[in-house]
Amino acid sequence: MRQVPPCYLIIGSGRMARHMAHYFDLLGLPYHRFARKTHDFALLPQLLQKTTHVLILLRDDAIEDFITEHLTACTHTLLHFSGSLTTPLAVGAHFLVSFSTTLHPLATYRQAWFILDTEDKTLADLLPGLPNDSIAIPKQAKALYHSLCVLSGNFTCLLWQKFYTSLQQNWHIPKEAADLYLKLIMTNIMADPQQALTGPLVRGDQKTIAANIQALNGDPFQQVYQAFVAAYQQQESK
Ligand SMILES: NC(=O)c1ccc[n+]([C@@H]2O[C@H](COP(=O)([O-])OP(=O)(O)OC[C@H]3O[C@@H](n4cnc5c(N)ncnc54)[C@H](OP(=O)(O)O)[C@@H]3O)[C@@H](O)[C@H]2O)c1
Repeated sequence: MRQVPPCYLIIGSGRMARHMAHYFDLLGLPYHRFARKTHDFALLPQLLQKTTHVLILLRDDAIEDFITEHLTACTHTLLHFSGSLTTPLAVGAHFLVSFSTTLHPLATYRQAWFILDTEDKTLADLLPGLPNDSIAIPKQAKALYHSLCVLSGNFTCLLWQKFYTSLQQNWHIPKEAADLYLKLIMTNIMADPQQALTGPLVRGDQKTIAANIQALNGDPFQQVYQAFVAAYQQQESK
């Protein structure tokens, strides 16, 4: 049988497709691209002939339909990168990294782990040429895994957006003042996650907690504060 050297097809033109193409460029890995915006679907079979591994970087709810409509006949390794989707049609490889509009340097992509939803194949089978670490989790654990990513990565972003905006709008406290606070909290968490929490919750200072909640009257984040207190107390009582 003809041994074809690995070559990637990146499908999609969104944020993650842009980052993955950039990472492949930095690593010098060969790839082709396909996106419905810029390519005719008639071109897809030719691109499949030239490639061995397909990265399906489409909106989560479009992935299975796209495979069923366009990729069922091929014998390629099919991968998607959704943190929550599980499907028998493609292997899930969530890249534990955050993609903003700015591309990362090689070292950042290089350090990031892939969280695979199969133990049947290694990262070297699935993404040959990528030097990253990886680990497999059970398919049925993916929803929980992804909810933890959203809680920690996305919901804290909402908290910090509120912090920056409120300090600036209410009292003209400059961004740099808030930056140092964020940096120190992040540094403390990374140094020792279990010991990093400070403030009225760890001190059990009920008077301050009550005053904080009162101060947030009429603010949608009052409920968020209360929910955090309840979750913390429930966790501590275990
Ligand atoms: N850390 C990670 O591993 C990570 C991070 C972010 C995202 N992801 C995953 O990567 C995938 C892409 O996310 P993204 O952030 O890049 O999304 P995005 O920026 O919103 O891009 C979505 C892409 O999907 C295409 N698309 C949407 N509906 C389609 C359809 N019905 N048929 C064909 N193409 C369709 C869009 O094409 P048009 O522009 O033509 O609409 C666009 O190219 C998702 O599965 C997401 O969960 C993983």
